[in-house]
Amino acid sequence: MRQQIPFHRPSIGPAEEREVLDSLRSGWITTGPKAKRFEKEFAAYVGARHALAVAHCTGALHLALFALGVGPGDEVITTPFTFTATAEVIGYLGARPVFVDIDPGTFNLNPARVEEALESGLHRHVRALLPVHFAGHACDMDRLLAIARSHNLKIVEDAAHAAGSARQLEGRGMTRIGTIGDLSCFSFYATKNITSAEGGMVTTEDDALAERIAVASLHGMDRDAWKRYDRGGSWFYEIHDTGFKYNLSDVHAAIGLAQLGRADEFMRRRTAIARAYSDALRVEPALQVPYEEPGIEHAWHLYVLRLRPAQLRVGRAQFIELLRERGVGTSVHCIPLNTMHFYQERYGYRTGDFPIAEDVYSRCLSLPIYPAMSDEDVAYVIDNVLAIARENRR
Ligand SMILES: Cc1ncc(COP(=O)(O)O)c(C=O)c1O
Repeated sequence: MRQQIPFHRPSIGPAEEREVLDSLRSGWITTGPKAKRFEKEFAAYVGARHALAVAHCTGALHLALFALGVGPGDEVITTPFTFTATAEVIGYLGARPVFVDIDPGTFNLNPARVEEALESGLHRHVRALLPVHFAGHACDMDRLLAIARSHNLKIVEDAAHAAGSARQLEGRGMTRIGTIGDLSCFSFYATKNITSAEGGMVTTEDDALAERIAVASLHGMDRDAWKRYDRGGSWFYEIHDTGFKYNLSDVHAAIGLAQLGRADEFMRRRTAIARAYSDALRVEPALQVPYEEPGIEHAWHLYVLRLRPAQLRVGRAQFIELLRERGVGTSVHCIPLNTMHFYQERYGYRTGDFPIAEDVYSRCLSLPIYPAMSDEDVAYVIDNVLAIARENRR
């Protein structure tokens, strides 16, 4: 019988059910003790001084840039090879995303292109760098930190894919993502390495930034205003600043807490699947497996395979369709933002602006990679990817 392997299936089990039921029965379902515990345990997981739980990574990124004071007329350098959330939040604040091309191996923001943009004289209002640790492959943070220092810029890391990722840093050794730039923003969306169905987290070492984000994430109210319906709470609250409604509910935090307890097991499984894919697929000349850089611990949120069009009679879309016919779900990460209508209309970007990102996009597909996959599922994906490549070799 043909197997059905969806692109993603979350690992939700008894631990998540227990935590959620506990919240539902406690009488306190929105932001409260579980959200606080999730913050504390996530801070410990990445080794950060502060972790602030929010409704999603989009809100986390918005709050991070807001806390740094990014505003109208400012520019933020980022990658076009990302989900729209990374760049859309720059627009929320009236600032402009300045895209630079990616590294062809890691698909991350290329530090050489960042330096070129800063030295071109075309971007005189850059306030911050917004790198994405694409697929869970940590960016070259030593170089980005050096660039930020020499141009007096802040760094907000889009760590949506990178819960658990780490990288060797000069003078610090292997360091988890979450403590390197000024602020790091994580996603707990349904497909992410750790999920809370929807959710996000901002981490920082800076007390003042943490305070500003805590206040801004709940309407600009006092830091602990969420306690006002608690037994000891007071009806009075003060509004201190512009605010947003980005708090994380305890029901969501309950799922996140249970998932965090399984994070190491999840990461081991994702790593094993990625190894199995690369070992089996690298022998096929029509396929290009992900680049594995020494000195990083990859979180393997995505496994992005590239096709070599010169070796194949079918294109990427057809390859995906052939896999779908055999019951294997895939996806494509990412469609470069400069090729999208909104970014062309609003900011004047054009298709052709970022040849590396566009080349990767034209021939990449993401294979299923998640802890709920069995060894048989992994073998089935490998067999079918190889069979399609071989049957359609030029
Ligand atoms: C790179 C990147 N940044 C940000 C986000 C936004 O995350 P969220 O859905 O938690 O807002 C995503 C979501 O997929 C993403 O892939």
